[in-house]
Amino acid sequence: MDTIKGYWYIAAAGSELKATPIRRKVEGESLVLWRDKGGDPHALRDRCAHRGMALSAGKVVDDCVQCPYHGYTYDGQGRLKGIPSLCSGERLPRVQSMKSLPVIEQQEQLWVWIGEQEPTRKPFEFPHYGEEGWTTFFMQTRFHAPVDMCLENFLDVPHTIFVHPGLFRNEDQDTVQTRVTRSGESVVVTFLDEKPMEGIGPRLVFPKGVKQKHTDRFILPSISRVDYEYGTDHQFLIVSQCTQREEFVVDVTTAIIWKLPLPTLITKPFLKWYCRKVIQQDVDILEIQGAQMKEFGRNFTHTKVDLLGRHIHALRRNALKGSRKLKDMSQEVSIRI
Ligand code: FES
Ligand SMILES: [Fe+2]
Repeated sequence: MDTIKGYWYIAAAGSELKATPIRRKVEGESLVLWRDKGGDPHALRDRCAHRGMALSAGKVVDDCVQCPYHGYTYDGQGRLKGIPSLCSGERLPRVQSMKSLPVIEQQEQLWVWIGEQEPTRKPFEFPHYGEEGWTTFFMQTRFHAPVDMCLENFLDVPHTIFVHPGLFRNEDQDTVQTRVTRSGESVVVTFLDEKPMEGIGPRLVFPKGVKQKHTDRFILPSISRVDYEYGTDHQFLIVSQCTQREEFVVDVTTAIIWKLPLPTLITKPFLKWYCRKVIQQDVDILEIQGAQMKEFGRNFTHTKVDLLGRHIHALRRNALKGSRKLKDMSQEVSIRI
């Protein structure tokens, strides 16, 4: 599995972590997470130093995680704190095989640092979270496809009329001018003269006759962000963070974020239903693509409309090699969507 190190990844939603330890795979590594009495989360590699038991099958004792097999207990740094069967006078053995990972709870999510060194940055922040006039809810979805295929899908325009018919675009195609700008750790497509979205979702929440601003963005290591803006009163964002559990198992945390002059009592249930429906259609199509890739591998053909795929690939490949500097670029591309 290709893991880009030196970033925070979502291991679980904060609400999933209660009094008992849980096991979550993050970028291929199995972790145990638990909370201490103060509510602070901790993460260790899910393996007891004694006989290799899963600590996540144990319990929390005095802010430590206790192995269910012989009761070894470890604190949040992975230090061995106690062995119930130790003879009096016998010293605790020195343990070097435990590994702890920095974990931060931020914006309802538990972020784990995947990197060789200590954290050099903060976790990604979902935009507008908690800001006045804005509402956010999170959805979790499992995809069975490689992470770069998921990210490309979340930012891919031409699939929408095939995979999501009637939901947010119609089949009248238009030539649209776009600008693709890659700089630092992200690449963004700005749609310069796109006609407003169609379909039940946009019709319900966006005003008629207002110019649409639309951008699609990829941010390293595995984040997609789509913005729609119809003046300052009507804004809608979909931001997704991907965590690879395994190579073809990706858990996606999607933040649905909006500012609309409509009561949340109406917008929230509608958007929940609508986004779930759209995302499920992507889950289904990507499951087929994932199975195809297992059988046939990667040998793809591209055209201009595949705007972001190659940049996602270039940025990720570059970051995987450990160098973060890719030449900045900006170009206008006209596409038919
Ligand atoms: S395996 Fe964990 S205490 Fe023995
Ligand atoms: Fe889609």
